[in-house]
Parts: sequence; structure tokens; C-alpha cells
Amino acid sequence: MPPAAVADYRQNAEANEATVTTDTTLIYFSSVSENTRRFVEKLNVSAARIPVFPTEPQLIATAPYVLLIPTYGGERGKRSILPQIMKFLGHEANRANLRGVIGAGNTNFGEYYCIAAKKIAAKCNVPVLYTFELMGTPEDVLNVNEGLETFWAPASHKKK
Ligand SMILES: Cc1cc2nc3c(=O)[nH]c(=O)nc-3n(C[C@H](O)[C@H](O)[C@H](O)COP(=O)(O)O)c2cc1C
Repeated sequence: MPPAAVADYRQNAEANEATVTTDTTLIYFSSVSENTRRFVEKLNVSAARIPVFPTEPQLIATAPYVLLIPTYGGERGKRSILPQIMKFLGHEANRANLRGVIGAGNTNFGEYYCIAAKKIAAKCNVPVLYTFELMGTPEDVLNVNEGLETFWAPASHKKK
């Protein structure tokens, strides 16, 4: 296929993709081990989950949100952002509405602790708001609840 045809094909694939929209202020990814889901369920905010499987409809953010994601490190921090998260951020609306990132990870990974959240924040020019390990402690839950409340208080968040 010539390059132009490949580009058209991709555009059509995206246009035909099943989508669901969300205006929630928190969007997260959690793999089948579901540590992150368990953490999110302890928060005071409702949240939307990025699809785990390709058969699920793609999530599109229609309002500003904070992204909460775990890291799954590849070799020396490479390929640390899961394909599902890359696909989600491939949608322009999902990048445009992103305001901050919270990272989940494991400090056993040393310098690569929460590297996916740090990379996304740097690339999208938004802050890393918080990091925590695995399914978080009660203190993490308190900190994130309070932090999100402050972050979304009128005039406190920065972009736009
Ligand atoms: C194969 C594998 C690689 C991982 N790589 C990293 C890493 O590079 N940095 C990090 O902070 N945590 C890493 N973790 C820890 C996960 O981010 C952590 O277990 C997280 O809670 C998983 O969330 P989930 O169960 O919602 O998918 C890794 C975990 C696994 C299983």
C-alpha cells in the first residue's frame, strides 16, 4: 500500500471505531491484576476506565480530567506506557482535556518508578500530581482525595 493509502486506512479505522464519551474528572487504566481499580474505588470521585481489551469501545474525554495509570516497564523504562494508554492518548480530545497525571507503580523498579506517568506528563506538558505504590495506603487515598479537590477548585488548575 502506498503511504497515502495507509494514512487513509488508519483514518477510516479510527472513524469506524466504537466510542463512548465521558465527562468524568478522573480517568484510569488498570490491567487484569486490578491494583489501580481497587485504589480508585476507595476515592470519593467517580472515574471512567480505559478499555483493557481491543473489543471494548474506546473512551473519549469530553471535559478536563486527571489521568491515573500504572507503569509496566519494558527494558530500562522503554515501552513503559501500555498500548491501551497510548491508544487512548492517540485521540486528540483525550490529549486536549488532560490536566494532570497520577502514577501507580512499585518502588522496587527504582529509577523507573511510575515512569509511564512521568513520561506522559512531560510529553503533554501537565504536572505529575501524585505517585503511589500498588493499591495505595489509606494515607494515599486521603492525599489523592484532598489533592483532587484542591486541584479542581475554581481557578486552581493551570492549563488554558
Ligand atoms: C511486568 C511488570 C512490570 C512493571 N514495571 C514497573 C515499572 O517499570 N515501574 C513501576 O513503578 N512499576 C512497575 N510495575 C508495577 C505496577 O505498576 C503495579 O503493580 C501496579 O499496581 C499495577 O496496576 P494494575 O494492577 O492496576 O494494572 C510493574 C509490574 C509488572 C507486573
